[in-house]
Amino acid sequence: MSLIEVVDLVKVYVNPVSRLGISALNGVSFTIEEGDFVGIFGPSGAGKTTLLSILGGLLNPSSGYVIINDKEITHLTYKELIKFRREQVGYLWQLPKDNLISGNTVLQNVMLPLQIANKPREEQKKIAYELLDRFGLSHRKNHKPNQISGGEAQRVGLAIAIANKPKILLGDQITGELDTSTSVEVVNHLKSLSEDFGTTMIIVSHKRQFIEATDQAFGLEDGKITSVLTNFQKEEGA
Ligand SMILES: Nc1ncnc2c1ncn2[C@@H]1O[C@H](COP(=O)(O)OP(=O)(O)OP(=O)(O)O)[C@@H](O)[C@H]1O
Ligand SMILES: [Mg+2]
Repeated sequence: MSLIEVVDLVKVYVNPVSRLGISALNGVSFTIEEGDFVGIFGPSGAGKTTLLSILGGLLNPSSGYVIINDKEITHLTYKELIKFRREQVGYLWQLPKDNLISGNTVLQNVMLPLQIANKPREEQKKIAYELLDRFGLSHRKNHKPNQISGGEAQRVGLAIAIANKPKILLGDQITGELDTSTSVEVVNHLKSLSEDFGTTMIIVSHKRQFIEATDQAFGLEDGKITSVLTNFQKEEGA
């Protein structure tokens, strides 16, 4: 059984004033296995954020459905949805301001999701220190988000996203603001997390730069999957 099954997703955004519809997803279907590192690549407007938002339980599709871990997440009650988002999914967005709280230090930022999950304070600290160490951020723990670099900020965002060990990590153009070598560093962290914790990663991007790191890659254009490349095919040079 696959961890994630996406079936015929359609999303039409309707302008409440003009009543005109913009179709963002036009029948997207795929499956993802547990522990896989998946890349979804496509140009601006392809529907990447829309797709991730539906996978993360942040947006309802117009039709179609998503099954994660045997549960249809597109039809959860409000209470179930909150639980799903809190316990199963970690989110990492392109802009540090969307991942970090600006008034908090790096350490406080990483402790926050653990606090929300009701972990005892000592455990919050222990896990946060371990994560900061893992991502080479210990020396930045008392800095505020505006006192660190873009690459460091994305690593803090990553620490926050995985603090509660979610089953799935969703990343939206997480290397969009970074230079090539910093992007490679962030992608290497993702890869090692997926290997160490078995986290399933779904990362969307304009660029295909980290395609070699993925187990499976989809091309998304005009709300449709236009290509699928597995690790095996990449090794074969397809
Ligand atoms: N809230 C919204 N209301 C109306 N239309 C929307 C809304 N959000 C997205 N769209 C439209 O849906 C389409 C897909 O948007 P989406 O944000 O999913 O694309 P994307 O692939 O993430 O693009 P980008 O790479 O620029 O972030 C676009 O045509 C966009 O204009
Ligand atoms: Mg987007």
